[in-house]
Amino acid sequence: MKRIAIMTSGGDAPGMNAAIRAVVRAGLEQGVEVYGVRQAYAGLLTGDFERLTSREVSGILQRGGTILQTARNEEFKTPQGQKKALRSLNEHGIEGMIVVGGDGSLRGAIALHKLGVPVVGVPASIDNDIFGTDMAIGVDTALNTILDSIDRLRDTATSHNRGFIIEVMGRNCGYLALMGGILGGAELVIIPEQPITMQEVAKSLEDAYVRGKNHAIAVIAEGASFTINELTQFLDQHPTGFEIRLTILGHTQRGGSPTAFDRLLATSLGVEAMKMLLAGKTGVMVGRQGRDNVPVPLEEVVSKTRPLNPEYINMAKMLSR
Ligand code: ADP
Ligand code: F6P
Repeated sequence: MKRIAIMTSGGDAPGMNAAIRAVVRAGLEQGVEVYGVRQAYAGLLTGDFERLTSREVSGILQRGGTILQTARNEEFKTPQGQKKALRSLNEHGIEGMIVVGGDGSLRGAIALHKLGVPVVGVPASIDNDIFGTDMAIGVDTALNTILDSIDRLRDTATSHNRGFIIEVMGRNCGYLALMGGILGGAELVIIPEQPITMQEVAKSLEDAYVRGKNHAIAVIAEGASFTINELTQFLDQHPTGFEIRLTILGHTQRGGSPTAFDRLLATSLGVEAMKMLLAGKTGVMVGRQGRDNVPVPLEEVVSKTRPLNPEYINMAKMLSR
């Protein structure tokens, strides 16, 4: 293989740039030219490619976002769109692809692979919902951003004897809320994997008030069975003792310089992805399992759900006294 391409797709995640840099430099080491596809599958359809030399990936290791940009694209989901993409790849003489992104992006990678393009996927999504990897690129940075926000909100909550409901991202997965809650010392976490009622939430906050707490923090996942606004309205009508404020952390969770953990994960997975592609180990995602980088068939990745560790769910309850 003499020429390959890399794209970053789906929601951007801190560490994507570190992965691009690792792929490009590991490729150059093996005499492989690396092209970057701008704006993910959208750029694949229009042939928006750029040659990435060592200099192009200089100074990006510490930057959040993605220099290649990303996009969500519906046309690529159609057979017609996929045919266009294949044509672009052929026109540019691209012999293999590395797709860095979340589970949606990895479904796209399967489509390419079925068309005969050798593909290796790299898991990147702050949600940590990708099966086959302990951690995805971006999760650690997002979690640290969440903790910084929770710490700040607790300062003001304590000063005013208030309850804060804090919404974090994660799509349908409660990982960020659960870990943010445990590590931020929240009184309560509300996640899709462990549905609770709004009455139970109110009771829990009321109990914290009665126990003499001078603040209460509830972290709610965006995918929970009720929204933060519904919950706030409910708590207005069912006073718990705490005056309630709500904060939606939103896209702040996606930005920022990647942590040491994310830089290392992205670098290591990027180098490994290039190795696997050149060794013909394709149709796989390179996942981190324990201390190893492991090839996991893409079909398995997208057909399974990454479960939450039940120990952490119990811990969140036990430690919130
Ligand atoms: P993420 O990769 O973060 O999960 P999305 O679910 O939005 O993000 O997926 C990113 C992109 O991947 C989509 O906009 C689309 O272009 C492509 N994609 C998603 N699912 C499929 C699919 N089943 N077939 C082909 N392409 C897909
Ligand atoms: O998948 C990453 C993620 O940030 C999810 O947590 C969130 O639901 C979604 O992307 C938000 O997407 P957008 O950036 O398109 O608003």
